[in-house]
Amino acid sequence: MAIQKVGVIGCGLMGSGIAQTAAQAGFSVTVREVNDELLQKGLSSIQKNLARLVEKGTLSAADRDQVAARLKGTTNIEELKDSDIVIEAVTEQLPVKRELYGQLDKLCPRTTIFASNTSSLSITEMATGTSRPDRFLGLHFFNPVPVMKLVEVVRTIATDAAAYEETIQFAEKLGKVPVRTGDRTGFIVNRLLVPYLLDAIRVLQDGLASVVDIDNSMKLGCGYPMGPLTLLDFVGLDTTYYIANVMFDEFREPRFAPPALLKRMVLAGWNGRKSGRGFYDYADPKNPKPVPLVF
Ligand code: 3HC
Repeated sequence: MAIQKVGVIGCGLMGSGIAQTAAQAGFSVTVREVNDELLQKGLSSIQKNLARLVEKGTLSAADRDQVAARLKGTTNIEELKDSDIVIEAVTEQLPVKRELYGQLDKLCPRTTIFASNTSSLSITEMATGTSRPDRFLGLHFFNPVPVMKLVEVVRTIATDAAAYEETIQFAEKLGKVPVRTGDRTGFIVNRLLVPYLLDAIRVLQDGLASVVDIDNSMKLGCGYPMGPLTLLDFVGLDTTYYIANVMFDEFREPRFAPPALLKRMVLAGWNGRKSGRGFYDYADPKNPKPVPLVF
């Protein structure tokens, strides 16, 4: 049976993007947050994104209204019980995720597919907390979700082949390009991206070049849309630090070890764009200024 009803858990940066993308692709979506304040914040960011599309003429006002009508917000997890697939995009804490999947496992029919948007935790470990490791997989989206075309579809040794193919088709219906990968920390993209981002910090830490020159090198020399330090601020320094530590634990290779400067910046609360300061200062968000770092 093809997927029609989509449940999304978490309406933060990734969850709201996933819910928006699914509603725009014609699916009926229910997105759940833990409280009303967070839910309204997430839903209003979706409304802003849709309004921007209408302004640009990419989406008609009538289509925007239909997208909004397909999208329902709730704080009650029971409203996800009819979902054909539930995509979880909550904080990267295994106990929190396992607790949620335990509740969902009791609520949803045996046929519901469970998918996690985790960027680094083990899908296998999450799946074993439920009665359906065969219908459990990873669906890793990229930020900003409505724009980035890629989705990593992650299978474990226990994932059923038919459920996996069904999810690949679902990702295509979302307008994304799915790539197939196994359950290894970081999958494909972060396995390649994280060492590169950490190396950019090491280049800065070694005093080899300035923040702006490192970013310009990769933007103008290699055609990347953002330089690595801008991208670190965009992804979040705390998020990258967390992912690097999980990857280091898994692979025990120095290239995944977070540099001291990254740790200090996270300890200082300089988490990038979302905290107003990282490698750049976002007091004027349209015109970020490099932060003079002393190390
Ligand atoms: N939500 C929705 N749409 C957005 C958006 C957002 N947050 N940010 C930008 N857009 C849209 C714009 O409206 C614009 O649409 P248009 O072409 O129809 O007018 C389009 O994206 C391009 O935006 P801009 O012209 O403002 O700016 P750029 O051309 O610089 O593009 C970008 C912005 C798409 C973010 C681009 O800089 C980019 O691709 N950066 C790299 C992003 C990246 O690498 N993401 C992956 C991060 S890693 C990750 O997520 C994995 C995790 O596990 C760590």
